[in-house]
Amino acid sequence: MDNTFSVQQIAAGPCLSYLLESNGQALLIDPHITKAAYYRDLIRKKGLTLAGIVDTHTHADHISSAAILKAEYPCPLYMSPKAISSLGPKQVSAGDTIEFGSGHLEVWDAPGHTDDSIALVGGGCVFTGDVLMIGSVGRTDFQNGSPADMFNTLARFKELPDDTVVYPAHDYKGHKQSTIAQEKTQNPFMVETDKRAFIANAESKVLAKPFNMDQIIQVNREGSAKEIEFVTAEQAKERLDSGDWQLLDVRRPDEYEGIRILPSLNVPLDRLQSRMSELAGDKKWIVSCRSGNRAAAAAGMLLAAGMQNICVAKDSLNGWLKKGYPVVREKVPMSIERQVRTVAGSLVAIGTLLAIFASKWFLIVPMFVGCGLVFAGLTDSCMMAELLMKLPYNKNAMQKKAAGGGACSLDGGSSSGTCSMDSNNKDGSCAM
Ligand SMILES: [Fe+2]
Repeated sequence: MDNTFSVQQIAAGPCLSYLLESNGQALLIDPHITKAAYYRDLIRKKGLTLAGIVDTHTHADHISSAAILKAEYPCPLYMSPKAISSLGPKQVSAGDTIEFGSGHLEVWDAPGHTDDSIALVGGGCVFTGDVLMIGSVGRTDFQNGSPADMFNTLARFKELPDDTVVYPAHDYKGHKQSTIAQEKTQNPFMVETDKRAFIANAESKVLAKPFNMDQIIQVNREGSAKEIEFVTAEQAKERLDSGDWQLLDVRRPDEYEGIRILPSLNVPLDRLQSRMSELAGDKKWIVSCRSGNRAAAAAGMLLAAGMQNICVAKDSLNGWLKKGYPVVREKVPMSIERQVRTVAGSLVAIGTLLAIFASKWFLIVPMFVGCGLVFAGLTDSCMMAELLMKLPYNKNAMQKKAAGGGACSLDGGSSSGTCSMDSNNKDGSCAM
């Protein structure tokens, strides 16, 4: 029987999901919570019928959108009989086949990372879940994972044809796919042939637990995943006034210092991942930024990390200001980085104009600025910034900040765990 299908890989950070397409029907593998709307759009635009959803195992590092999609599409959710799920999945195990269009995938039991792991094999591909990753394997230290089972599962993968394309559920290094031949020669866990050594190596790994793991597993088992809710400025204010919700502002500290809604907490978007633990718990967060874009991205991160009481202030600060709601404004100087950009750009423009209209010797100005910026980039020390910081208005601002007049930004790191057993990945991930 013809078994052809296309594979579209959809990444949400290190989490990889797959939309397989054959004769107008689709199969969705390991759907991620933040991509529910994307899958929906893709299926609609391509005019596909969703024939099935597969969760290769109960994910511990992110929430699956299987529950949301299963409620919308009349198709089965396939999982191992060992998976604990309130969604009534169609149980599949070794020897079963999942069909979609004219494509089909054979189900393999693939314990090791968890005891409820399955892999899907067919059409020259293997969807390995978190058992076999590119250059690594899934960790085995929770959800009834087992290094011995992992070794046996990998041994079975080695028997697949060398050109079989490997599609994992996670990758932490930006890889997209691999082959069995590549993994057999380059993946240290596949290269290992001594079962005892393999088990000893796996057991020697000390890895951080994925962040908020217990909560994520609970949501995935209950099928209680929610999509991001967007609220208007009126709704946001109502919720804040009720005292049940708190405002999380994800703008940069300099933006927050200039104008902010109070009370609120400032955790800039680029620091959110390392500060998750400070936001976890039973708190309900309204996420806000200037226009709503960064807030939506931040809410996606919080949601994927298992925090369910999250909503996004749709127009964020802009919407709040339009309604005339109260804010605190503070006159803050331009950041040093912006000052450098402004001064350097001005010098280049003025020098060039003078070179055109006065004397070519003025070309020395843009050339000097250019060399200075290259030097600053290479050495990470900027003379212009140092000079600017000596100006009185910058000095005053820094003194004020040192005295505690700054933003409510939280600093300090925290570890986030994921699923990897990669020896280079000490902050924890799905891989070894
Ligand atoms: Fe996993």
